[in-house]
Amino acid sequence: MTERTCLAVVLAAGEGTRMRSALPKVLHPIGNEPLLAHVLRAVAGAGAADCVVVVGPDHDAVVKEAARVFPDAGIARQTHRLGTAHAVLAARDALERGFDDILVVFADTPLIQPSTLRRLRAALADGAAVAVAGFSPADPTGYGRLIIEKNRLVAIREHHDASAAEREIRLCNGGLMALDGRHALALLDRIGNANAKSEFYLTDAVVLAREAGLHAVAVEVEEDDVRGVNTKAQLAETESLLQQRLRQAALDAGVTMIAPETVFLSADTKLASDVTIEPYVFFGPGVTVEAGAVIHSFSHLTGAHIGEGAEVGPFARLRPGARMGKGAKLGNFVEMKAAVLEDGAKANHLAYIGDGRVGAGANIGAGTIFCNYDGAAKHRTEVGKGAFVGSNSALVAPVTIGDGAYIGSGSVITDDVPADSLALGRVRQVVKEGWASRLRSLKATGKKDPG
Ligand code: UD1
Ligand code: MG
Repeated sequence: MTERTCLAVVLAAGEGTRMRSALPKVLHPIGNEPLLAHVLRAVAGAGAADCVVVVGPDHDAVVKEAARVFPDAGIARQTHRLGTAHAVLAARDALERGFDDILVVFADTPLIQPSTLRRLRAALADGAAVAVAGFSPADPTGYGRLIIEKNRLVAIREHHDASAAEREIRLCNGGLMALDGRHALALLDRIGNANAKSEFYLTDAVVLAREAGLHAVAVEVEEDDVRGVNTKAQLAETESLLQQRLRQAALDAGVTMIAPETVFLSADTKLASDVTIEPYVFFGPGVTVEAGAVIHSFSHLTGAHIGEGAEVGPFARLRPGARMGKGAKLGNFVEMKAAVLEDGAKANHLAYIGDGRVGAGANIGAGTIFCNYDGAAKHRTEVGKGAFVGSNSALVAPVTIGDGAYIGSGSVITDDVPADSLALGRVRQVVKEGWASRLRSLKATGKKDPG
């Protein structure tokens, strides 16, 4: 049997007024990825090779984000917000191309899982024309109620239109829907707006399907799958649920976390097995950690690659483009950006390594600064393999330190240093023997300069 084709229609035309933010609601992040991105990845994971994102007016940033995550996604614009069915019909061109399955999902429901979407698709494969995600929230106020008769879903009644008896129903519409592509357009085109809100309700597809002799089913799903985000408080709640999922997945993959509830992950964090993460570590976007590496407490990582068996922190900051090789070490109060610390290289204390390369086995002493910025442009620093940079040195880029070279502590290095040489860039020490005792005896006589 050939796989059924699937089009996802992602409704993202909602406003963000209750978020009290200038950012469109669906661009708010959880796990450092916009809500929309989570939904697009879920539909792709459920086998939707095609996708249309329905956006509101002035939503260019939403269009850009859709293209980033799902490059072939079509864009449809809904200029007036006339209801969920009206929004789906904005994707008419795509619907007319003919698909077996149409998935309708909301872009503000980021915890939807591919497996849940696949269950809705399976209901279509089993003969339903409409499959609706049903769930039983603690408080059903505001949701559409699923009206079931003789095990058949016969209608969805929106809260505003429901009778007192219907409002007693606990099983609610999660909002997600799968429609048989052969009937979808005909059903959608028949939906009217004679209801309390004068909106074209997608949910009316159920009763219309039934009238056409087709059948509709409800598929029960977890509340988290259909949890919508309308406020910053709900955004935070959803973030916390996502974090639980990400931590669980990391633990299942063999990562050791001593206090998982204190570790913050991004949706794209990649942790190999036998990575150890101490309490209170933050992973921003784009971090990969190879097997056996240890991330000590209070470290903050974004856009970084940590090699096998490497050690980070405590209190380390890795910014985008930081790459650590096998067994490399980056200790407390060290910041690294757009730089490579090759295999076995170390920077154990209080340093800034920006725009450069530290060769294998090299040692960067405490307090070393890569002076990469001259006020206008950034420049590179190269430290050769096995080199030793003494404590409190300033390496003024662009500058190259050869393999195996030594830099005396406290040096300001402005010129290249050849391999295996010693460079000193500081005032030579002067010793005046007896000076201190002369000072003390002068004090007794009232004179000033011990000479
Ligand atoms: C909808 C369902 C309701 C369900 C609830 C679950 C309908 C008619 N009702 O109600 O049964 O219990 O979700 O959360 O579908 N949108 C547009 N354009 C529009 C209208 C809406 O893009 O013209 C988008 C919104 O941005 C949102 C989604 O569709 O992402 C749902 O719209 P919303 O107004 O939140 O519907 P609810 O009243 O919550
Ligand atoms: Mg809603």
